Amino acid sequence: MGCSARHATGFIYETYYQDVWVKGGAIIKGGRDCELRFWAIYEALKKAKKPLKVLDIGANMGYFSLRLLEKLPGTYVMIEGNESTAQALLKICKLNNKPSLVLFKRKLCLQDLKELRALEKFDVVIALSIVHHFKEPYQEVFETLMTLGRKLVFEPPIAEESTLNQERIIKEPLDLSMVNKKLLIKVPTGSRYAANMRRPTYLIECISNASYDTVQGVSPDTFRLMNGVYPSQ
Ligand SMILES: C[S@@+](CC[C@H](N)C(=O)[O-])C[C@H]1O[C@@H](n2cnc3c(N)ncnc32)[C@H](O)[C@@H]1O
Repeated sequence: MGCSARHATGFIYETYYQDVWVKGGAIIKGGRDCELRFWAIYEALKKAKKPLKVLDIGANMGYFSLRLLEKLPGTYVMIEGNESTAQALLKICKLNNKPSLVLFKRKLCLQDLKELRALEKFDVVIALSIVHHFKEPYQEVFETLMTLGRKLVFEPPIAEESTLNQERIIKEPLDLSMVNKKLLIKVPTGSRYAANMRRPTYLIECISNASYDTVQGVSPDTFRLMNGVYPSQ
């Protein structure tokens, strides 16, 4: 029987997509390098004049939310749909012990995004490598993401890199031509399927760039509806 090496916290080495980040450092290295994207995103957001309200969709190990929260105060709402990944992320939330972190354990569908939009307003939505995980038409998912907050940090899927829904990614190319976007960074995919390719991350100014106030925290209704698991109180 195989015997995997474990960190003292119980996390297993060489298992996770993102680094496991606890109180200022990575205790486990993930399979995909996130550091370069993190710094590019931080640079784009660092001029925020007030605490941010951030939604991180497909948060995985929470790397981006956890690191941004250490530098930019605010509410960070992470959503993770995979059962075991969400369990690991819950444990990471407890280890980091930050009251303004929120975790929803929920596999989102398009309708969930629309319901969330009716309940909460965000300053920033982070949607990295996630659109191709939805069952609904990718363009509609993308356009709905653009209505959830003022800014969207977005990484589109690349067919060559992915074995997940590769055919759909080719058949349903996203049209970003009409959006007001700025390229933040292009990073190597890190995938053996597309070793020489680079993936873009964009900062998109959203159509809902309206003058609304974001409220820190999330409402109890949102927490219940989206299956909130952290904080537990
Ligand atoms: C390819 S990973 C990207 C992780 C992270 N956004 C990044 O770029 O580093 C996709 C993540 O989204 C989660 N996920 C996939 N479909 C989801 C859904 N419908 N709702 C919530 N999370 C989902 C997966 O479990 C996984 O953790």
